[in-house]
Amino acid sequence: MSGVSDSFARPINYLRISITDRCNLRCVYCMPAEGVRLLPKKEMLSFEEIVTVVRAAADLGISKVRITGGEPLVRAGVVSFIGLLSRIGGIDDLSLTTNGLLLGRQAQSLREAGLNRVNVSLDTLRPERFRAITRGGNLVEVLRGIEQAQQVGLSPVKLNMVVMRGVNDDEVLDFARLTVERDWHVRFIEMMPVGQRGYQADYVSSTEVKERLTALGELVAQGVRIGNGPARYYRLPDALGTIGFITPISECFCAECNRLRLTAEGGLRPCLLASNEVDLRTPLRKGASLDELRSIIRQAIFAKPEQHHLAENLSPQDKRMSQIGG
Ligand code: GTP
Ligand code: 5AD
Ligand code: SF4
Repeated sequence: MSGVSDSFARPINYLRISITDRCNLRCVYCMPAEGVRLLPKKEMLSFEEIVTVVRAAADLGISKVRITGGEPLVRAGVVSFIGLLSRIGGIDDLSLTTNGLLLGRQAQSLREAGLNRVNVSLDTLRPERFRAITRGGNLVEVLRGIEQAQQVGLSPVKLNMVVMRGVNDDEVLDFARLTVERDWHVRFIEMMPVGQRGYQADYVSSTEVKERLTALGELVAQGVRIGNGPARYYRLPDALGTIGFITPISECFCAECNRLRLTAEGGLRPCLLASNEVDLRTPLRKGASLDELRSIIRQAIFAKPEQHHLAENLSPQDKRMSQIGG
């Protein structure tokens, strides 16, 4: 197995796979209220096709795979799909990002199928507010899902909070406190304008959140990486869990980018925040060999931009976050 680097000498070893553009929620920052045009089923890659792509990618040195959506747990057959992925040689970290609604009932079988861990989106701890942000979701089910994930050993469990001014920013201390008693990793995420023009008025920088958290004690930087993503981790005194910051806007982490994305319709997307994609579905359906697929994956890796251009007010307009998987 050989590792591949992009044209800026960044080793690429992480593939994020969106297995569906469908979601059972409509979070305000992720999808418009009316939803987005959904892909007809035949335009979505089958699980067999995705497994073929992962085989080819693993040969190139991809060793971390994250399943995303939409909401990945709404796609029928996801558990056996995870089982297939977990048996592909060379994949040493198999994870999933979910809104948690269906996690309670699926955690055990996902774990048994070979899933290593989950990241759960959770933007508020208040039921009414949860209903408003997600346009109808039930917080209790998500909390049950998180507990269940922890219990069955889908760990470390990470919680993703997108911080929004006037929406949930008054809860950052409550979220940080969760890490004191629980071995949970709470990450505060700066909102990115994906499929929306310009910066949103409710953007809150991680610097501001960090300042607010000093009310709880000193945040001690953690030397070790937890996972393979862009978060930087800290710990409150004597806390079981950690606090992470994901700072695409205030502190660009593109220089360390290690990833590629596969959309549900089979586009390889070199960068979350740039709209170019390389089509894999057509060659797949024409019966491309693993060798040909590897060469297309290499093309996508070489097409990775050096960094995003949000500072120049350039953001992708082709898709919303729900169609890319974050
Ligand atoms: P691990 O560290 O492996 O647990 O994964 P992760 O934090 O990368 O994954 P997750 O799906 O939980 O993403 C958390 C947040 O980071 C989301 O808001 C993503 O949109 C954002 N994010 C993940 N990868 C990238 C990236 O490559 N670029 C940018 N700009 N944001 C990213
Ligand atoms: N900006 C930042 N993070 C976002 N997510 C969804 N939309 C955005 C956005 N506009 C997060 C979700 C999920 C992860 C995959 O991406 O909260 O946890
Ligand atoms: Fe990588 Fe693009 Fe994310 Fe930067 S914005 S970290 S280049 S995916």
